Amino acid sequence: MIEKSSLILTGGSGLLATNWFYSKLNDYKFYLGLNERQIQPQDCNVLFLDYSSESSLIKQLEIIRPSILIHTAGITSVEKCEKNPELAYQIYVELSNIVANATKKLGIQLVHISTDHLFEGNAALLSEEEPVKAINVYGKTKALAEQIVSFNDPGALIIRTNFYAWGTSYRKSFSDQIIDSLRQNQVLNLFDDVYYNPILAENLIKTVHELLNKNARGIYHVVSDDRISKYEFGVLIAEEFGLNKSLINKSTLKSQSNLVNRPADMSLSNKKVRDLLGRNLGTVKQHIEQLCRQESEEKTKQIQLL
Ligand SMILES: NC(=O)c1ccc[n+]([C@@H]2O[C@H](COP(=O)([O-])OP(=O)(O)OC[C@H]3O[C@@H](n4cnc5c(N)ncnc54)[C@H](OP(=O)(O)O)[C@@H]3O)[C@@H](O)[C@H]2O)c1
Repeated sequence: MIEKSSLILTGGSGLLATNWFYSKLNDYKFYLGLNERQIQPQDCNVLFLDYSSESSLIKQLEIIRPSILIHTAGITSVEKCEKNPELAYQIYVELSNIVANATKKLGIQLVHISTDHLFEGNAALLSEEEPVKAINVYGKTKALAEQIVSFNDPGALIIRTNFYAWGTSYRKSFSDQIIDSLRQNQVLNLFDDVYYNPILAENLIKTVHELLNKNARGIYHVVSDDRISKYEFGVLIAEEFGLNKSLINKSTLKSQSNLVNRPADMSLSNKKVRDLLGRNLGTVKQHIEQLCRQESEEKTKQIQLL
């Protein structure tokens, strides 16, 4: 029997990492790199990663010898990053610096998960060529992380994205929050002036592995094919799941004065990926239909039990 190659994820307890494990568990020997929260999915290796120095991380990776490292660790709350800029800098810039030095030295393929939060937000469907201009601490530290990763490990694949999926008991995704609220007949306010093109995590993961198979390196936008507002995203979910869409109110970002400054348009062009792979990545509606089908799958139940 051919032994599976090993794949390790930083941020192993997070939304993306847990979905990665359950999407690809047949193809790789998995290691989830944990920070504080301990989880133990069945048939998965877990370990606490030591990022205190490059040599300590290298020692751990030398034992595992992964062929791929997916770097997902982070603080995803824009508000928390703004309030704790040193912490955001530490996790996004310093930690990415250590990770990318280690992968370069050990010849491990690095996949760095970036964001769609890197621009001012006054233009739609931006390409990978567009100069980055982040407007808050989260975006600025994610932008610095991209620079440091491409400098330290030029072979890294850097993925700009925005995703959703069925989440764990302790980490609900945006789609979980919408579905849970509507199922409890709660009113929801969603921005109708904030645009993006979110992708279902399962499709993001599949696309990343296809890009790796094509030896893609550098920055790629892995998002769905069409741009919608957060309000429209909520309405599509309500329609697909047979929930009451009249519970969703339109609200606006521009009327919120107490929120951290954030881009109103985060949509990215995925043309570079479509050209390389020779296929579309799917519309938001198609992905939500897939999310709905996933609810009855065994892997979704396993994720929700974590
Ligand atoms: N969620 C989205 O829609 C979205 C959109 C665009 C980009 N992204 C990017 O995608 C990546 C993954 O997002 P996610 O939603 O899966 O994140 P998540 O669910 O919030 O998980 C974050 C992970 O990072 C770990 N972590 C937090 N602080 C850490 C530290 N100081 N050192 C090491 N690990 C630490 C957490 O572990 P503990 O809980 O144990 O600390 C957790 O495993 C992030 O880099 C994010 O910027 C996410």
